[in-house]
Amino acid sequence: MAKQEDQFKKVLSHAKEYGYVFQSSEIYDGLSAVYDYAQNGVELKKNIREYWWKAMVQMHENIVGIDAAILMHPTTWKASGHVDAFNDPLIDNKDSKKRYRADVLIEDYCAKIEAKIDKEVAKAAKRFGDAFNKEEFVATNGRVIGYQEKINSILSRMASSLEKEDLADVKALIEELEIADPLTGSKNWTEVKQFNLMFGTQIGASAESSTQVYLRPETAQGIFVNFLNVQKTGRMKVPFGIAQTGKAFRNEIVARQFIFRMREFEQMEMQFFVKPGTQKEWYENWKETRMKWHLSLGMGTENYRFHDHEKLAHYADAASDIEFKFPFGFKELEGIHSRTDFDLKAHEAHSGKKLQYFDHEENKSYVPYVVETSIGLDRMFLAVFSHSLQEEELENGTTRTVLKLPAVLAPFKAAILPLVKKDGLPEVARDILNDLKWDFNVFYDEKDAVGKRYRRQDAAGTPFCITVDHDTLNDKCVTIRHRDTMEQKRVAIADLKELINAEVAVKNWLQKM
Ligand code: GAP
Repeated sequence: MAKQEDQFKKVLSHAKEYGYVFQSSEIYDGLSAVYDYAQNGVELKKNIREYWWKAMVQMHENIVGIDAAILMHPTTWKASGHVDAFNDPLIDNKDSKKRYRADVLIEDYCAKIEAKIDKEVAKAAKRFGDAFNKEEFVATNGRVIGYQEKINSILSRMASSLEKEDLADVKALIEELEIADPLTGSKNWTEVKQFNLMFGTQIGASAESSTQVYLRPETAQGIFVNFLNVQKTGRMKVPFGIAQTGKAFRNEIVARQFIFRMREFEQMEMQFFVKPGTQKEWYENWKETRMKWHLSLGMGTENYRFHDHEKLAHYADAASDIEFKFPFGFKELEGIHSRTDFDLKAHEAHSGKKLQYFDHEENKSYVPYVVETSIGLDRMFLAVFSHSLQEEELENGTTRTVLKLPAVLAPFKAAILPLVKKDGLPEVARDILNDLKWDFNVFYDEKDAVGKRYRRQDAAGTPFCITVDHDTLNDKCVTIRHRDTMEQKRVAIADLKELINAEVAVKNWLQKM
């Protein structure tokens, strides 16, 4: 646990030091759970967004994108159920006056039991060495089975109490488990209450004429209300999808874990409209496709897992999360939901407008079913960034900090470094920069010794360093150094573009899907 916390602290400080993420309005001591993306962060975020958009929109003939407004007619949120049911159960500690999400307190309690399982597994792995079989150990070891049963029973009781809106039982569970305020240790809790997560605001100049509106808590509803417009104007045939990326806002009670849970964040969502009865097939299909997208980035199959929901939201007939191993454990990164015809039917009912598709093959109209894929861009950023940050012991006994971002996502693809600031080397380096910048985001650096500049680029995540030295003036060759292997090669300036492209082109990465 302490090791995880240390690793997470390193992620936070590295993100700031290397210009990836800053706390919002830091000079005023920040605003809780709101963050700004800095000069490198904005590039990484854009590259993730583009990698998603390419895979989800441009590589599919039957998926198109939109960019709906953040503010929507307030009835949208009545229809979607957000006004009545977009709540989190909160609990206050009477002594510390701190507010928590009751379900998160219980989940954190379970995470501690899960850490005990991990410890047993690590101990056994050490004892049995190469002969160790993790699956077999977990399935047969009495202590591990006991821990797992305890977790299952706690989580299923919590899910059932929340489902039944039995908040008294959620509090009873907290008391039975003797869960204490993580900050003070106090067990003096209030009742559990529901708290709506939407941010409200007003449209209109005067108090009398103003209308209550909401900052959208998900981008999906902008897609549902535009379903028929897009289908008609794009002459789309079911099955087809509508995708969008954009900001969403939630007044999260538990504001922590950096950009994992934010109050203002960005989603990348796709609603896939299908013929009723085919949704199960499409749901499985999208689960598989989305997992392949994640794996194409090469961050290790062992760091992903599906978590199929047992308790489903009232509008869903299947739902699963793709979980990623963050520095604080496996947590939801993306959701794949089979949402039935709930949303379109609800908007039909509230708007009085038909939202149906005429199927020429079937010669009838119907409300399509929807399979949704929904991923948080900021969460994806955190997954990529935290996984990539590594400390390496080098052969000469020193260590280096290296940000091994997938090259396709790296903010800068190459840094151009003249060996010295004189003898015409900066001019040649700038010529190379000016040529490469048409194709790639590249960086120029002439300050400090070249070894120091290499380390700076390693830590910033730049896949290549290109060094111009005195020989370059005669042989038109440069030294190209690879961030991950630290291997250095002498190559012709004329070959640089092809060499860099081979490692950073979106096509080469997405083809791994
Ligand atoms: N339209 C479905 C929907 O919004 P969700 O599970 O509430 O479903 C989808 O959110 C994804 O959005 C999550 O898997 C997560 O990656 C991201 N997300 C949700 N709340 C977030 C928050 N407060 N901060 C950052 N990302 C968040």
